[in-house]
Amino acid sequence: MTNNDPKFEFDKPEMVENIISHYPDKRSAVLPLLHLAQSQEGFISSAVMRTIAQLVEAAPAEIADTVSFYTMLYTEPQGKFNLQVCQTLSCSLNGADELVDHICGEYKINPGETTEDGKFTLTKVECLGACGTAPVVQINNDYHEGLSIESLDKLLDSLE
Ligand code: FES
Repeated sequence: MTNNDPKFEFDKPEMVENIISHYPDKRSAVLPLLHLAQSQEGFISSAVMRTIAQLVEAAPAEIADTVSFYTMLYTEPQGKFNLQVCQTLSCSLNGADELVDHICGEYKINPGETTEDGKFTLTKVECLGACGTAPVVQINNDYHEGLSIESLDKLLDSLE
């Protein structure tokens, strides 16, 4: 690490202290701290990982391992709307693959990429737990179920 490495500081240090105080072992606070950092920054940078490692007295590599395990933690900046299309069996059999192909064609992105204007990121995810209303797309924190290409288009057009 050099002096030129970017630094990360939490906006709300009192929340950090509060989170850490809930756990007898500081390391157990890693996930909530990562979520807090992501809600502030939009993604988990290496500066975030270093800061959290220091806070919980762990190695940055351990934090990086945790980040790489969870698909809801992002190591790159995301679009304003993260289109998380379920790819598991029920959704796949009910048109999720076509939804992904449609998004790729309309917005000129591949899964894992963000549109040039920063509006949409396309992510393929595992079962979202709403298999009975497949296909399901989670956009940021909201579920959209039983989508067709037409209803998806309407939905995406309505997002500002
Ligand atoms: S298979 Fe898509 S929500 Fe379960």
